Amino acid sequence: MSQASNDSDHGIYRARREMLAERLRLAGGGVALVPTAPVAIRSRDSEFPFRHDSYFHYLTGFTEPEALLAIVCDASGVRSHLFCRARDPEQEVWTGWRLGPDAAPAALGVDAAAPIERLDAELPGLLADRPAVWLGFGHSAALDARVAAAFERLRERARSGVQPPAALRDLTPLLDEMRLVKDAQEIGTMKRAIAISAHAHIRAMRHARAGQREYELEAELLHEFRRHGAQSPAYGSIVASGANACVLHYERNDARMAPGSLVLIDAGCELDGYAADITRTFPVDGRFTPEQRAVYEVVLAAQAAAIDCVLPGQPFDAAHDAAVRVLAQGLVDLKLLAGSVDEVIASGAYKRFYMHRTGHWLGLDVHDAGDYREPLAATLGSPDAAAERPSRRLKPGMVVTVEPGLYLRGDDLPPGFRDIGIRIEDDVLVTVAEGEVLSEAAPKSVAAIETLMAEARA
Ligand code: GLY
Ligand code: MN
Ligand code: MN
Repeated sequence: MSQASNDSDHGIYRARREMLAERLRLAGGGVALVPTAPVAIRSRDSEFPFRHDSYFHYLTGFTEPEALLAIVCDASGVRSHLFCRARDPEQEVWTGWRLGPDAAPAALGVDAAAPIERLDAELPGLLADRPAVWLGFGHSAALDARVAAAFERLRERARSGVQPPAALRDLTPLLDEMRLVKDAQEIGTMKRAIAISAHAHIRAMRHARAGQREYELEAELLHEFRRHGAQSPAYGSIVASGANACVLHYERNDARMAPGSLVLIDAGCELDGYAADITRTFPVDGRFTPEQRAVYEVVLAAQAAAIDCVLPGQPFDAAHDAAVRVLAQGLVDLKLLAGSVDEVIASGAYKRFYMHRTGHWLGLDVHDAGDYREPLAATLGSPDAAAERPSRRLKPGMVVTVEPGLYLRGDDLPPGFRDIGIRIEDDVLVTVAEGEVLSEAAPKSVAAIETLMAEARA
């Protein structure tokens, strides 16, 4: 994982901390506290592989467990304090090298660093007489308890004239706004994560054979992720054949793939903290049946219509609305739904076969941080403004997924249309001019998929 160990790296994190500090200053200043994630026990004394907190990583690039960043923003300027694990040669024999507080300022560009064991002792001093303490509400019960204890310590010292902060404020919206628009370093990392993931989908298509278990294709994905340096999947890989593809969060990946079935793979790697999120659906034997192909072409057309809406200035919701219209038209044309397209949309009848939204923000988290509505200040504040806030307008630097699908299940369907689950998902960067599809290396036209699979079998 990136260790932010050179100047250009830590310059980026310092710039983000300074941008956050400027936003804090505009909102009255104070101290921001950002902890990394807790270590999670897997069983007895075995831990899950540690995965840093995304907000903490965004501001530090630091991937060790047991760390917290404090940003102090007052009239004299901005200072960053890192609390991290102390060097411990004995422990390092077991769990590996630690940066340690002495090396942290040079490595990470923070102004000061101290052992994490000092946090409870130093927190009252960091918080004393500040106008506000900023932290992610509901984010860390452990930090909430630490801050409450620090407030208590400060109240005990009231006779010496110090006060705890007058306000506790939510840091999340400020950081979410920053994370919504990716900088050049983030876009570079995301392009690499997405390229690795696209090639993992190609590898799975090449290796697929009827009769294999779904997990055999999952293994091909993991192989491709790891051999290109991705640290892990960004989320549980879905390899779903036949009716399993109609289970949106299918996780078992253990069924035998029947001849003639479609396989839906929703998988992306995490590289240096950033997620890819790609879905492809293909016939396990390499040839679509006429019915599979007909449904696939509807989803593909819906995706094309949705991607056309990923443009600067367009509302986020436009892609979903465009996809729904094409899917509804396709369901009517295929006689899977009765009525006109407008009726099918107005009644919501299409939701039997398309029950999810068409995309989400993508970044450090697969379902990334960021408000899907215009911020309150940008709306003309009626009392109900929160309920009425319009869909977020896309801006250059935002990254969205576009992932329409159709999920056909039910004994009432014509036999050739039963147990078909199709989703096609790409990752799209909003640029000044267009929506740039970052995942197009993974084939998705019927011809491209059939050709690739035929070549792999030749
Ligand atoms: N892979 C999760 C999603 O597509 O939203
Ligand atoms: Mn996905
Ligand atoms: Mn997705």
